[in-house]
Amino acid sequence: MDSLDMPREQLGICAEGNLHAVYLMFNANDGVEAQMRPCLANIAQYIYELADQYADSAFNGFVAIGANYWDALYPDTRPAELRPFPAMESGDRDAPAIEYDLFFHLRCDRLDILHLVANEVYGMLEGLAELDDEERGFRYMDARDLTGFVDGTENPKGRNRQQVALVGEEDPEFRGGSYIHVQKYVHNLRKWQRLPTKKQEDIIGRTKQDNIEYESEDKPLTAHIKRVNLKDEHGESMEILRQSLPFGTVKHQGLMFIATCKTPTHFEKMLHSMVFGDGEGNHDHLMHFTQAVTGSSFFAPSLDFMIHYSE
Ligand code: HEM
Repeated sequence: MDSLDMPREQLGICAEGNLHAVYLMFNANDGVEAQMRPCLANIAQYIYELADQYADSAFNGFVAIGANYWDALYPDTRPAELRPFPAMESGDRDAPAIEYDLFFHLRCDRLDILHLVANEVYGMLEGLAELDDEERGFRYMDARDLTGFVDGTENPKGRNRQQVALVGEEDPEFRGGSYIHVQKYVHNLRKWQRLPTKKQEDIIGRTKQDNIEYESEDKPLTAHIKRVNLKDEHGESMEILRQSLPFGTVKHQGLMFIATCKTPTHFEKMLHSMVFGDGEGNHDHLMHFTQAVTGSSFFAPSLDFMIHYSE
């Protein structure tokens, strides 16, 4: 690894949005780490090559290792800040931790290709891991969440995506990797749709149809974007790169919230601010209309890290 100046990042971490996604969550069998390491490197390499083969359909993806599985898989080294999902609860606002050993994030503008690749990945893991959860994400209208609001507007753009999402010199062995948080949110859409549009807009902090941000003085302290727009002790914006998409069926639908970042701290602080608020009773009112049913913490290492440790 030392000889590699620029480890190759897994391409799905910073990719632009797609029309479709498949999310696969696995738990590993005991004692298979020696076979698992080369298998995961093969899958990551396969995904990397497919990004070229299916460039026309913007295929991309990444493999991520669960915080609780990392030490079994790579006992000699660990990303400096990798830690389990920070479960939180306050009043009716619940952010539970449901951890998985492995997360495969596959995205493409063609669902048939995704289906094919997901089957391949499933086959490659046979005997090594059990598939415990699977969801399909899709772009809804003009990149809206199922609440009807455009989601992703304030995401980092261009090369700033890499700067926000990828570990740099601060943890040299893990350069090009990323801390990943996933929460499956199931929406109560009936309750949401009973709200007048203006009330919905106050909860998000933006207008619905035109997606215009409220002026600062008009933004309620309980608005979602008010609660997650945080600064660090140096006055710098704490940013994450969101790769979320709507998922589900008529009975069970919501948002697969996915954050990638060079540190887990930004996500943790934002979630804390949503659930517990600002210390003066102002929590995120969006949480009255959606329920997090999972919460998992992973690290997606660079492709070169996985290949290096596969022997
Ligand atoms: C912004 C929806 C959960 C972090 C937004 C926006 C929407 C939205 C509509 C405004 C447009 C945009 O800039 O993307 C949702 C929904 C969620 C959810 C429906 C769950 C059901 C979360 C969580 C976090 C988060 C769990 C982090 C812990 C952010 C951030 C922004 C944002 C950082 C940009 C804020 C800004 O700088 O203006 N979200 N969000 N969101 N959300 Fe969420």
